[in-house]
Amino acid sequence: MKNFISKLPKAELHLHIEGSLEPELMFALAQRNRIEIPYNSIEEVKEAYKFSCLQDFLNIYYSGASVLIQEEDFYDLTMAYLTKCNEENILHAEIMFDPQTHTHRGIAFETVINGIQKARNEAQEKWGISSFLIMSFLRHLSEDDAFVTLEQSLPFKHLIKAVGLDSSEKGNPPSKFYKVFEASAKLGYVLLAHAGEEGPAEYVWEAIDGLKIVRIDHGNNCLTDEKLVNQIIQRDIALTVCPLSNLELKVVTDLKLHPLKTMLDKGIKATINSDDPAYFGGYLNQNFISIQETLNLSEADVVLLAKNSFEYSLLEENRKQELMRLVEDYALKN
Ligand code: ADE
Ligand code: ZN
Repeated sequence: MKNFISKLPKAELHLHIEGSLEPELMFALAQRNRIEIPYNSIEEVKEAYKFSCLQDFLNIYYSGASVLIQEEDFYDLTMAYLTKCNEENILHAEIMFDPQTHTHRGIAFETVINGIQKARNEAQEKWGISSFLIMSFLRHLSEDDAFVTLEQSLPFKHLIKAVGLDSSEKGNPPSKFYKVFEASAKLGYVLLAHAGEEGPAEYVWEAIDGLKIVRIDHGNNCLTDEKLVNQIIQRDIALTVCPLSNLELKVVTDLKLHPLKTMLDKGIKATINSDDPAYFGGYLNQNFISIQETLNLSEADVVLLAKNSFEYSLLEENRKQELMRLVEDYALKN
């Protein structure tokens, strides 16, 4: 099954580019940019990556991002991730980036997006890997701040497919961002958001009814509300589920208790994703392998998850169908 999963064609729909910063690259960039980081060795970094909750992780994640200064740094970061995609048979990636994490440190929006874009173009040319960019607003900051970011994005609108909402969920409900999501939709951005990772089912309701998102990042806590589950199914809204992230951030205490199988059994459209792979111990294939082994998922479940990753991507319909057929052909021949 490991080999089957590794070579299976798939898409990744929930990946924070800042969360793909490996300790080795963090050290190299700290040296290149003469930035102090609070670690003396890779071992010390790995020791620090023990999280008790989302906030615990976010503090370390934002501190790690401080080594990203120049366009070349964002290029190196994105190229490293897309190289992984090539190794893992990820044919399409929908990549989140957090502009405010950088603009708040004095890094220009264009420095960030130009570096990322250069790597995206190169991966498309070299390997035929397509990608979309999702600009995520940080929900611990104000809606006014998100509006500033939306404004900054305008010269690069043609490079950005969607807006998202991430960072500290508890205490920062989707309702805080209704206006900026409405404005984003008017500009033509697709709408996505993290909801129900640590926050309650109520936040998922707000995300689907108030923000009007087309896909939910995480969404685990929707399972506490049967009416919500029915709505998610009826409206054909997919969840981007992140098993190893959920384990590392204590959303689940044990992978054996992960709700993925329950979601599939209820008819929820789920996909598998890595979230912040440099921090959570595995890229996309490892997420597939760990959850398949732990929950004893069948080959049919794994194939369905890969098909969902294309079906619920933001690709245009013909391309979706083509990639879903590729998964079916692979399943027939392997
Ligand atoms: N930013 C990066 N990873 C995140 C996660 N899992 N939840 C919320 N914000 C994030
Ligand atoms: Zn995430």
